[in-house]
Amino acid sequence: MDLNHAVVLVTGGGHGIGRALCHALATAGARVAVADLDFEAATQVALEVGGLPLALDVTREQDVIAAIEHTESELGLIDVYVSNAGVAFGDGPDGAASAPDEHWRRCLDVHLMGSVYAARAMVPRMKVRGGGCIVIVASAAGLLCQIGEAAYTASKHAAVGFAESLAITHGEDGIQVCLVCPQAVATRMTGFDDDGQAQDADQGFGGNDVDGILSADYVADCILAGIEEERFLVLPHPQVATYFQRKADDHDRWISGMRRFRQHLLGDRT
Ligand SMILES: NC(=O)c1ccc[n+]([C@@H]2O[C@H](COP(=O)([O-])OP(=O)(O)OC[C@H]3O[C@@H](n4cnc5c(N)ncnc54)[C@H](O)[C@@H]3O)[C@@H](O)[C@H]2O)c1
Repeated sequence: MDLNHAVVLVTGGGHGIGRALCHALATAGARVAVADLDFEAATQVALEVGGLPLALDVTREQDVIAAIEHTESELGLIDVYVSNAGVAFGDGPDGAASAPDEHWRRCLDVHLMGSVYAARAMVPRMKVRGGGCIVIVASAAGLLCQIGEAAYTASKHAAVGFAESLAITHGEDGIQVCLVCPQAVATRMTGFDDDGQAQDADQGFGGNDVDGILSADYVADCILAGIEEERFLVLPHPQVATYFQRKADDHDRWISGMRRFRQHLLGDRT
């Protein structure tokens, strides 16, 4: 897809990867709607990129529909919808099952239902127009596992499954689905500010920084390339493909390896 003059709505556009993506899209000539729970941040980014600021909570279907309608009346028909908003809370004190329901629900609502609401509104529109692109920013955690983040991991696996279902079902409708699965990226989620400066040295990466922490700008460029080249899977850390292959080859062996890796991380922290 050619992004020059394309209309693109980015959720979670106020910070981190979404913010970097809004900048990269505007540079590529796209007209950008910057949507975020943090409306102040969305407004700031929209000012920087000459875009349209939108307040939305992706867990509320009526917010998602209103954001789409507002974007289409102000900027034109949406060519690309980027479902990027995300949250992470960490496990509870007793490990993988111990996080409160509130955190489980929020992860599933933001990472899964946010994309379901977007697709429910966008697929019929895109079908009528003969196509479009839906980008789902999941995580390597959705293919593998983020140690210390059971709710995050499970909800990102759900996001991956939903992206696959969308791509398989609606490819013939001309709808391109782009699934983005990075490991660690320098954003607020991993203890950095929006300029990529470390803020919280104690913030755990759960081992997902083993292959290095990428900048949000680099990940944004990978996403742009994925959209333009009409690829399904975008892996900003290419090593993830190898890990995913090893997991598929021998799941039991992979679990044993991940247990040893977790022990190694725990050792590093004591
Ligand atoms: N940072 C990483 O290491 C990393 C790695 C893999 C995947 N991801 C994913 O990338 C995406 C972007 O995260 P980021 O790293 O830029 O973090 P971030 O915290 O900098 O940005 C997340 C954005 O989502 C917004 N948001 C949260 N809940 C929302 C809601 N209900 N409705 C609307 N907006 C909401 C926040 O206000 C924020 O602007 C997330 O889906 C995250 O899971 C991040």
